[in-house]
Amino acid sequence: MASKFQAPRGTFDILPEQARGRRRLEAVAATVFARAGYEPIATPVFEDTDLFERGVGKSTDIVRKEMFTFEDKGGRSLTLRPEGTASVCRAYLEHGMQKLAQPVKLHYLGPFFRHERPQAGRYRQFHQLGAECIGTDSPLADAEVIMLLADLLDELGVPGVELRLGSLGSFEARRAYLEDLKAHLHAHEGDLSNDVRERIDVNPLRAFDSDDEGTRGVMANAPTIVEQLEGEDAEHFAEVRALLDAAGVAYVIDPTLVRGLDYYTRTIFSFVCDRLGGQSEIGGGGRYDGLIEQLGGQATPAVGFAAGIERILLALDEEVAGEGRDAFIAVADPDQRQRAMALAAELRHAGISTELDLAGRSFKSQLKHANRIGARRVLILEADGTAQLRDMESGEQRAVDPGNLVDEMTGDEA
Ligand code: HAM
Repeated sequence: MASKFQAPRGTFDILPEQARGRRRLEAVAATVFARAGYEPIATPVFEDTDLFERGVGKSTDIVRKEMFTFEDKGGRSLTLRPEGTASVCRAYLEHGMQKLAQPVKLHYLGPFFRHERPQAGRYRQFHQLGAECIGTDSPLADAEVIMLLADLLDELGVPGVELRLGSLGSFEARRAYLEDLKAHLHAHEGDLSNDVRERIDVNPLRAFDSDDEGTRGVMANAPTIVEQLEGEDAEHFAEVRALLDAAGVAYVIDPTLVRGLDYYTRTIFSFVCDRLGGQSEIGGGGRYDGLIEQLGGQATPAVGFAAGIERILLALDEEVAGEGRDAFIAVADPDQRQRAMALAAELRHAGISTELDLAGRSFKSQLKHANRIGARRVLILEADGTAQLRDMESGEQRAVDPGNLVDEMTGDEA
């Protein structure tokens, strides 16, 4: 009978058949990152709440509504990390990585937590993989991280992906633009949804994200920052586009692109997938030249991305077959169990995946079980000390030298 306990709302178990697809994804990601010189980093699953309030931004939905925040026994406010960039920047400063050759290129993977309304592709505990390139404002770095995610999705075979690209300009340009945008929103207040109207002065950019029809009408004529970019901001954006063009990475410019975190400056991007329904963003990121200073460090430009592992897996919608086993050791007589166990250990040490019966099955059931788990060969230990090797595919069986079983198994891999 099932127990009354269930995984908490918005969380899920990763069962063995699902873990296989994840392992493939993780292996491809590790290769893509290593090939470009990105080194792995892992940070704690919880941090001081203040880090995210400062880093992600107090006006964002993430900080206002979605954080799992708790007090520890010493009265400190801690938060389960809703994203990884603030933590990686905290680690960069804490470990003096500004003294290393710049940029510092890092990648990470792990669980993240947001108290959102659960639906397909949106969970309260989910997994991200991400990369951060810290310590350069070169457009080459923007292009490099975008190409990393493009390569990763391509190598995994994710179908129906589109890259959307935008730019927010520098903080100063953005501030001037936001004043124009607020003026536009105030001029059309009557047509806006309540939520957007209430936040005109707090977070006007979110109006571009609204599903409300009246708001969408107002936003269709709103000024966009991409058309207002000037000077170095415009040059930077042009250079990122030229680099992507030269590398053959397809994108569309989306002047209305916004992201749910406050730290972005200049380049922002989003990879969407048409197989995903409502939660169509597979991954995204951008440049965050002010974040490290915001966290108390010296001004240090940086750029990065994160992608949702569950969303990639949903888009792939594939079943990854189990690998089966190289060998199963069947005992014709229970007296042979010790010998079987010792032999299983020897074979495993020699790199041969090996199972044996742990459930007291009859000889016949052991063979059935070997078949069920996809064993390629079965080594049968007879009561008189002799041994037989059966190839499960051809059904062929032959006597083998009982004194030399490991060589027998490693020598002529079927
Ligand atoms: P983000 O857009 O908030 O960016 O999240 C990145 C990705 O995580 C999303 O594109 C989505 O695939 C996945 N994701 C987010 N929330 C959920 C959820 N509730 N359930 C399932 N998947 C989700 C960041 O987190 C930034 N730190 C990215 C970044 C890195 N920017 C610069 N560097």
